[in-house]
Amino acid sequence: MTPGEREQHVISLIDRLCLTRTLKRDEWITVIRERTPGAAEHLFELARNVRHLHYGHDIYIRGLIEFTNYCKNDCYYCGIRKSNANAQRYRLSKEDILACCHLGYGLGFRTFVLQGGEDGYFTDDRLCEIVSEIRHQFPDCAITLSVGERPRESYRRLYEAGADRYLLRHETYDAEHYGRLHPPQLSAARRKHCLWVLKELGYQVGTGFMVGSPYQTPENLADDMLFLRKLNPQMVGIGPFVPHHDTPFADAPGGTVELTVYMLGLIRLLLPRVLLPATTALGTIAADGREQGILAGANVIMPNLSPPGVREKYLLYDNKLCTGAEAAESLDRLKAQMEKIGYRIAVSRGDSLNI
Ligand code: 5AD
Repeated sequence: MTPGEREQHVISLIDRLCLTRTLKRDEWITVIRERTPGAAEHLFELARNVRHLHYGHDIYIRGLIEFTNYCKNDCYYCGIRKSNANAQRYRLSKEDILACCHLGYGLGFRTFVLQGGEDGYFTDDRLCEIVSEIRHQFPDCAITLSVGERPRESYRRLYEAGADRYLLRHETYDAEHYGRLHPPQLSAARRKHCLWVLKELGYQVGTGFMVGSPYQTPENLADDMLFLRKLNPQMVGIGPFVPHHDTPFADAPGGTVELTVYMLGLIRLLLPRVLLPATTALGTIAADGREQGILAGANVIMPNLSPPGVREKYLLYDNKLCTGAEAAESLDRLKAQMEKIGYRIAVSRGDSLNI
């Protein structure tokens, strides 16, 4: 095949994905491995059309509250891993967290995301109390938790307390690849099990993976796409891997904007009604990363609502954005950036249509 014919083949696979919302594993591998700038342009146009059909030009915002950076896990890529002695650890109190919600509500946020490391201090009792209080004070808001793997009973109690949504990236579908990114105590199987449990309990579930993580192959990404189809989550968060200087992957190459936005476009065609954030990591590696994500089919942005004093401590990777348009207080700037590319920020819970 000539290069022109190869590109045409990739474009025809993208067209078929758009029509049938499915590809076979070897076709996914081809679409990913043989991508060209021309095929990507075609993909983004289709992805935007699909996004406009279901969500119009609205962008949903989520207020991200990073409430603890203590973590019992030791993921090789993550800056807040247990064995990073240089991380300055902090925990927010219930009062701090509620203050973030009040500030966010005034700014127009109707979804709060409580994200943290796997911190034993936040027992079910403590976390349920926080969730109940937010539920009580903000009845018209969605509460999203992102606090890692917990037993079913814990997830159930948190749901009862008022949590609506749960974010837990599967990170990578393939068990062997998973094993190269995580210590032996963690497993891909357990991670996926948690996702099925969360779904069964009634949560709107978000999963996702890093793009360009160490050792990742097009085959791995193909398996991620097949898993997304099976799980059919309400949200999918993907962002480039960005090395952190105090981790075993300090010198590993990072993921690219190019592949990340390409994967965003593919996910929009695979799951047309899914909520798809243009992530902080994408905004970190390129000044216009989030705009590029939106133009590839993303429809969610998650500005930082954590108290300014702790933001630079929640350092999952180097140079993580926490000021400028990333900060919740600069919503006006974000609004202007989005309006420039033809989109508007919605004051709404922004529930997924994928239910
Ligand atoms: N680069 C990019 N993303 C990272 N995460 C953790 N460490 C990094 C890194 N170095 C992502 C993981 C996790 C989410 C909260 O942050 O995918 O699920």
